[in-house]
Amino acid sequence: MLSLIIPTFNERDNIQPLYERVRSALGAEEYEIIFVDDSIDDTTREIARLSTEDPRVRLLHRRERGLSTAVIAGFGAAQGDLVAVMDADLQHPPEILPQMLEAQRQRRADVVVPSRYMEGGNPGGLNGPIRRMLSLGGRALAQLLLRESRVTTDPMSGYFLATRESVLPLLGTSPKGFKILLELLVRGNVRRTVEVPYTFAERSADQSKLGWKTQVDYLRQVMDLITVHPENTRFFLFALVGGTGVAVNAALFALLTSDLLHGVEYAALLASPIASNAAIVWNFMWNTTITWRDRFRSEHIWRHALRYLLVSETGTLLTWLVLVMLRAVGFHYDLLDQLIGIGIAVLATYRLNDRWTYLPVGETVLEPERSVSRR
Ligand code: GDD
Ligand code: MN
Repeated sequence: MLSLIIPTFNERDNIQPLYERVRSALGAEEYEIIFVDDSIDDTTREIARLSTEDPRVRLLHRRERGLSTAVIAGFGAAQGDLVAVMDADLQHPPEILPQMLEAQRQRRADVVVPSRYMEGGNPGGLNGPIRRMLSLGGRALAQLLLRESRVTTDPMSGYFLATRESVLPLLGTSPKGFKILLELLVRGNVRRTVEVPYTFAERSADQSKLGWKTQVDYLRQVMDLITVHPENTRFFLFALVGGTGVAVNAALFALLTSDLLHGVEYAALLASPIASNAAIVWNFMWNTTITWRDRFRSEHIWRHALRYLLVSETGTLLTWLVLVMLRAVGFHYDLLDQLIGIGIAVLATYRLNDRWTYLPVGETVLEPERSVSRR
């Protein structure tokens, strides 16, 4: 059985049309609809009326607020072996539910994500360039820092289907942010994720309930999720150390060119490699004592150091190659080109350091592999 969980906060005018669309989409499918309702208007009465007409409709009224806790309360109340979460404002078309169910059954997926961003999908209803930019920026951040979120092109989706089994670890938690799918991908029992394309619709009545505070909550949620798996924590620390390295590099460069080398010809040409190498030493210190402290063996310090240096220089070369290549294809934005190069170098050097520089001598590192599949 499918338990469709619909969180509602003041959605009175959407309840009836949504119910009708769900009913015709699901046809003979065995299902229940659980409205987890925190409304302070007539929405509650509207749902109560429906639930007396159709026993498959259940009302879970709460006297608190919070989208995440509402969804998790819905998981707790669900009787089906499958759960689906959907917004009440008709931005999530119920018509694709059968497709989602079929994808789940055929691929034996733990999670099915309708995606706005995969081929065939459309983020249409994200109104305005700002919302769209925030959505894409948030997604980029999640996919950079949380590897579990890379299994789908739309980890921020509020619409998804999952086995009840996979959501069990979430019961009793109260996440800071409202991206429940991210929470599920990182904390849940999720091995296989499949996605189907869809078009995110315009909001039909009323405004988004999620304001600016949501952006801050989102960052806190991602930070919380980073600490769940050690691999994500490690990459985050590496990026953080790298950030301080850039600051050291720039500060030393500025110092050398302004005071110390005052009057020296070509001061910048001399200052640049000094500053860069100082930053490499700085980064090595922190990466060794923090980022990879569990793999560091003091008797192998020179081996770690030499490899670290080689990897860092490879990163520098890579940044330069990217710059050259971008210019060759006519992408002439010096600073932007350099930043893209740095981004790629960060990913590459992280991997090289993880797989080579800090590889324990005579030990093997076991990586938990997740099976991931696209549609
Ligand atoms: N029970 C309950 N309690 N429901 C709530 C609350 C609450 O405090 N706040 C919002 N909701 C309900 C709304 O009634 C709606 O059904 C759903 O949660 C989503 O709220 P919207 O106001 O429509 O959010 P949105 O359109 O800005 O964001 C949606 O799209 C995002 C992707 O762009 C959500 O689905 C997000 O989860 C999703 O990430
Ligand atoms: Mn919405």
